[in-house]
Amino acid sequence: MNALELDGIRVEYDGARILDGVSLRVRAGEVVGVVGESGSGKTTIARTVLRTADTSAGSIRVAGVDVTRLRGRALRAWRRSGAVQYVFQDPLRSLDPGVRVVDSIAEGLRIARFPAGEAERRLAEALDAVGLDDDLISRLPAGLSGGQRQRAAIARALVVQPRLLVLDEPVSALDAASRDRVVQALIALRDRRGSDIAMLVISHDIGSLAAMSDRLVVLNRGTIVEDGPTRRVVTAPEHPYTRRLIESVPLIRTPTANRP
Ligand SMILES: Nc1ncnc2c1ncn2[C@@H]1O[C@H](COP(=O)(O)OP(=O)(O)O)[C@@H](O)[C@H]1O
Ligand SMILES: [Mg+2]
Repeated sequence: MNALELDGIRVEYDGARILDGVSLRVRAGEVVGVVGESGSGKTTIARTVLRTADTSAGSIRVAGVDVTRLRGRALRAWRRSGAVQYVFQDPLRSLDPGVRVVDSIAEGLRIARFPAGEAERRLAEALDAVGLDDDLISRLPAGLSGGQRQRAAIARALVVQPRLLVLDEPVSALDAASRDRVVQALIALRDRRGSDIAMLVISHDIGSLAAMSDRLVVLNRGTIVEDGPTRRVVTAPEHPYTRRLIESVPLIRTPTANRP
């Protein structure tokens, strides 16, 4: 089953087409990167999946469920189900500055009222996945670096075991070292045995996306111009726009090349 299917999505603001016929698939366990310049419509794709953008055409299926026309109570119930989780560019959007990091991470477990043992197990698993230790998580967000905060935001999304994780520019606000740690955490998450969590990772930076994505989708002015396995897109881009994006980056590592 696909974790996400977007078919022919159109989003318009004041008559301007922000997304025009966007179709893409994310299979279970797959990491798909969406790359495009600023203003190309990437965040609007995330908002389409979140169901906070008004679509004027197309359909949205998440883990086999058609959510295109969910409204009101049904929409809230679907959101609470945790099937999709979001990680934003700014981790402070998901971490309350007055709450210990561990409590922010565990919030979804409390809301879903997991039995204590199961909650402990999921929390430990999520912390392990992102490499945060007990000392760090007992602090307030202000006591963590930007990269540590972003890994905490990812752990918070992971505890409810979503089918799909949507990350919008997860490393764009970070310094190079923190960016590397977060990218490594996401790669480790993808490579975990038996992990069937799917990720849609959005970024303007094809370099960091290529390192973690199985497939790349290239967005130009609201239209997908290329969609293929990362290695193929990076080594043999078909579209001039993709070629330009690649030429702007000195060295691109791909997951296939990284794997032993
Ligand atoms: N709520 C809105 N109202 C009007 N225009 C918007 C709105 N949100 C985004 N846009 C426009 O849609 C285009 C795509 O925006 P966005 O999806 O944020 O791009 P990206 O994330 O790739 O930078 C931009 O031209 C932006 O100005
Ligand atoms: Mg954006």
